[in-house]
Amino acid sequence: MYYPDELIEEVRAGNDIVDVVSGYVRIQKKGSSYFGLCPFHNEKSPSFSVSRSKQMFYCFGCGAGGNVFTFVMQYENYSFQEAVKLLADRAGVNLPEIEYGEEVKKRESKKARLLEVNKEAAKYFYYQLRAKNGQAGYQYLKKRQLSDETIKKFGLGYANVTSDDLIRYLKSKGYEDQLITEAGLGSFDEKYGMHDKFWNRVMFPIQDSNHRVIGFGGRVMGDAKPKYLNSPETMIFDKSRNLYGLNFARTARAGNMILCEGYMDVIAMHQAGFSQAVASLGTSFTAGQANLLRRYVGEVILAYDSDGAGVSAALRAIGILKEAGLTGKVLNLEPYKDPDEFMKNLGKEAFEERIRTAENSFFFELRMLQREYDLNDPESKTAFHREIAKKLCGFSEEVERENYIEAVAGKYHIGFDNLRKLVLTYATQTGFAMPAARPKSGIQKKSDPKENQKKPQKLLLTWLVDEPALWPKVKKYISPNDFTEEMYRIIAEKLFADLDAGTLNPAAIISLFTDEEQQREAAGVFNTKLMELDTKSEREKAFHDILLSVKRNSLDYFSSQLGADVSAISKVIEGKKELEELSKTHISLD
Ligand code: GTP
Ligand code: MN
Repeated sequence: MYYPDELIEEVRAGNDIVDVVSGYVRIQKKGSSYFGLCPFHNEKSPSFSVSRSKQMFYCFGCGAGGNVFTFVMQYENYSFQEAVKLLADRAGVNLPEIEYGEEVKKRESKKARLLEVNKEAAKYFYYQLRAKNGQAGYQYLKKRQLSDETIKKFGLGYANVTSDDLIRYLKSKGYEDQLITEAGLGSFDEKYGMHDKFWNRVMFPIQDSNHRVIGFGGRVMGDAKPKYLNSPETMIFDKSRNLYGLNFARTARAGNMILCEGYMDVIAMHQAGFSQAVASLGTSFTAGQANLLRRYVGEVILAYDSDGAGVSAALRAIGILKEAGLTGKVLNLEPYKDPDEFMKNLGKEAFEERIRTAENSFFFELRMLQREYDLNDPESKTAFHREIAKKLCGFSEEVERENYIEAVAGKYHIGFDNLRKLVLTYATQTGFAMPAARPKSGIQKKSDPKENQKKPQKLLLTWLVDEPALWPKVKKYISPNDFTEEMYRIIAEKLFADLDAGTLNPAAIISLFTDEEQQREAAGVFNTKLMELDTKSEREKAFHDILLSVKRNSLDYFSSQLGADVSAISKVIEGKKELEELSKTHISLD
């Protein structure tokens, strides 16, 4: 962590969660909490709650939860550090500046100038489209059935027929030739001097995920070549790490992203209400873009052109998605060429149906592969089956692989055992693919944490949060070390210290974790409803059982860790005694 805990806590305390959430979601007071529709999953009746006293939010529908940092991280797709910055600004808390060297400062100011000049150019194009000179552009977009609202939303514009009017405009605003050239908006020519890169084209400003213009695509209005002209890569325009439409798609929360080939496809899709559509930037889909998408979704639906080029591009993209650990599906657009045409002809409902029936990307790959073989010829058919087996080795996880072997065997009428054997043959030669690398948080999760060990640990914490008065009665039996789940141990350390001091502060405990998943899990500790037990004796028995099983698990754990360490041995003997004592002790819940 860059910032000290006290500073994090100051920022958190300076941002009342009800105020912050109200800026994003409509919530209404009901009892002691506020309720609204959960922004993190689709729902019709409100199960999203915000508590002012706990300074936490929790959704009973999808389990999303945490403190004000968690909320901003999830809503804005920010990292913990980014969320801290935003909320520090909001609360007027000064964060210590990280010292930058001269070189970095210069770079940053150059970037800022490039963003400025792009923004200015976008404004100019936008204005031109509405001016008399821009009528051709406007008519073209209208002919492509874009509404005024869509044109405005995407900031579409027009570059004039004259070949230096943007440059003249930018110069009048004080931008130098050097910067204009570096931004790729113009270039110098011996014969003509400075001239515009784009002229007589409709203009598509390309925005990064924070709505900043980083480049342009310009389309001819007829059949001339090249159809599109794109800005070159610059210090602010990295084509492999940005996606057209992502600035809107990132908050679409559709559960998937739709990846298209063209700008026009993205725009047509958004206009029809599919605001999860994005496209790469005139180059093929990259691993950097896949990683970008993975920040938002687990599933990507490919809506590439249905021609040969589209199919090969889709096959390439599938490999990249798989590498990144994303699930891929392929949309069938037949009989139309691309999403734009499809939408114009069959409309929104039909498209929705195609999303529902999108093909699993592995089956799509096999179907495309099959076209190269003649299944009536045993030789060719065998070769096809071998290729299938090789591809199946790409599933590193056994359960998944077995499921695919089963499905493929059924689909292509291959004997399950035969196919399985064939897969294993290839696997011994090449090995199974390694699982896709997932970003790891600072705190390592135990591999395959057994739920039945975790659960009592969590319940014990929840119970103590709900009934802090129990703490003095149990503190002699339990210590943070009894929590073998690392994250629960961290929570226990802070929680027990707070209980000792009489200053329970759930929201601050959540800030101990900078990873969204862990914050969510920590929030669960504070929001789990304990089972409804009728009688006091039932409740006492349940509490006692939970306490015992946490203790027993901790003893098992330390016993299994036993080496020749004498202090560990005495610890285990001590633990056994405690456990015995505890099992005979009655703890009253009064
Ligand atoms: P329309 O043909 O107007 O519907 O546009 P589109 O966006 O559907 O384009 P298309 O499917 O032909 O191409 C997909 C994407 O490839 C475009 O959005 C551009 O990013 C890129 N592209 C197409 N043609 C060219 C070209 O001539 N040069 C460059 N650099 N990129 C192109
Ligand atoms: Mn098109």
